[in-house]
Amino acid sequence: MSEYILAIDQGTTSSRVIIYNRQLKAITIAQQEVELIYPQPGWVEQNPEQLWQSVYNCMVTALKQAQLNATDIAAIAITNQRETSLLWHKCTGKTLYNAIVWQDRRTAQTCLQLEQQGHLTDIQQRTGLRLDPYFSATKLAWLLDNIPDARVAADNAELCFGTVDSYLLWRLTAGKVHATDATNASRTLLFNLHTQEWDPKLLSLFDIPDSLLGEIKDNAAEFGYTDTNLFGSAIPIFAMIGDQQAALLGQACITPGMAKSTYGTGCFSMLNTGSKVFISQQQLISTLAWRLNAKPTYALEGSIFMAGAIVQWLRDKLGIIQQAADTEALAQQVPYQQSELLIPAFTGLGAPYWQPNAQAAIFGMTRNTGKAELAAAALLSVCYQSRDLLQAMAADGIALDILRVDGGMTENSWFLQALADITQQPLQRCHTAETSVLGAAFLAGLQLGYFTDLSDIQQVWQANQQYNPKIPPLQADSLYQRWQDGVTAIINK
Ligand code: G3P
Repeated sequence: MSEYILAIDQGTTSSRVIIYNRQLKAITIAQQEVELIYPQPGWVEQNPEQLWQSVYNCMVTALKQAQLNATDIAAIAITNQRETSLLWHKCTGKTLYNAIVWQDRRTAQTCLQLEQQGHLTDIQQRTGLRLDPYFSATKLAWLLDNIPDARVAADNAELCFGTVDSYLLWRLTAGKVHATDATNASRTLLFNLHTQEWDPKLLSLFDIPDSLLGEIKDNAAEFGYTDTNLFGSAIPIFAMIGDQQAALLGQACITPGMAKSTYGTGCFSMLNTGSKVFISQQQLISTLAWRLNAKPTYALEGSIFMAGAIVQWLRDKLGIIQQAADTEALAQQVPYQQSELLIPAFTGLGAPYWQPNAQAAIFGMTRNTGKAELAAAALLSVCYQSRDLLQAMAADGIALDILRVDGGMTENSWFLQALADITQQPLQRCHTAETSVLGAAFLAGLQLGYFTDLSDIQQVWQANQQYNPKIPPLQADSLYQRWQDGVTAIINK
């Protein structure tokens, strides 16, 4: 009997597939790295074919490892890096250009112009977002304006736009379904949080023909069926959700006031705000947490663009570590009061600064600065950025009892203790770092009737370890003050 759930997580640096049993116990995992392409400073792209192949290969490998056939899989769930934008031909399925990745800053000037023209408040009110190149709309407009013949083809309704969820759905169904889910739609700057539909005024402002856009569905829904040529039989796709929203669910943050931070490529802190859109006065964004049975649940989000990606930079560009885990032993040798301070604005700064043109800097280097000092400064910069977000939430009147944490970096205990110390916030690590894929699988289980409602996720979630602040608040404050001075210096440069 088919009862397994195959869940896909297409992330910025890798694709992963986990197969779960009915009780959401992971039985196998397959993973493949995906390449990031940097054609010009500030530009970040990915090859769409490589994205698709990495997902397909992981699906095939996972099935093989678990000794299962397509007929054993009751449903597929998809979670994904959000905002990354693709454009393809309706008839041939061919993409017109690489995927423009969420970190890409090429449209910073366009965003600035729109802000100068006075559109910011209206856009924020409609979408909950900021006018920043991070979100999809200006990436899509760039594609239409810069790829030869794209605008004409779009006007003739020959093209499809999609975020990664939508593109994977299109590929899995061999072009039969062009749809997205409400959480991914809520990251485009084209989706109205209040009406839960594409917003005609925003489509006209960004000059986007509505024929490009797919149908918006709830997060647990009948999205489509895989083409039989792919796995031998048609498997239903029953869940799609952006990765940070999926992590909020995977961390069982299902009641208003509960929050999580995921430390993947970037770091995304998200707070469940329930059935109301909470508008931040502190430059955080409002977004959709999930939509089930047409009922939206909202979240407040702080997005920072570099977290695990800084560790990757230490490994791939500086070559001072072999693997991410090496940073733990190195950082242990360095006191928090080190002179080196890294401001990781490699792709600008996200919340709460929203400075797309800011550039990274290292302050306070001496003859003594070596691998250990750089590794510690890298990890501490993620802690300081997290404190920025938590302080913004606090200034918005939100105090957290506990913050649930997950993602690759949370395997590093030195980092988690430093995070608790710098933020002065108790943290709880979950039993799995793979909360996004778990949240997505849960939604497919909901659609399959394995679970009756959201509260069932509480039976799946388990705390693994708690970290409490060990340094006094005054010490944390003075360390943080230095970070704030560093950020001010690069913003005013
Ligand atoms: O908004 C971008 C985010 O979805 C990327 O997630 O896991 O690739 O860091 P991740």
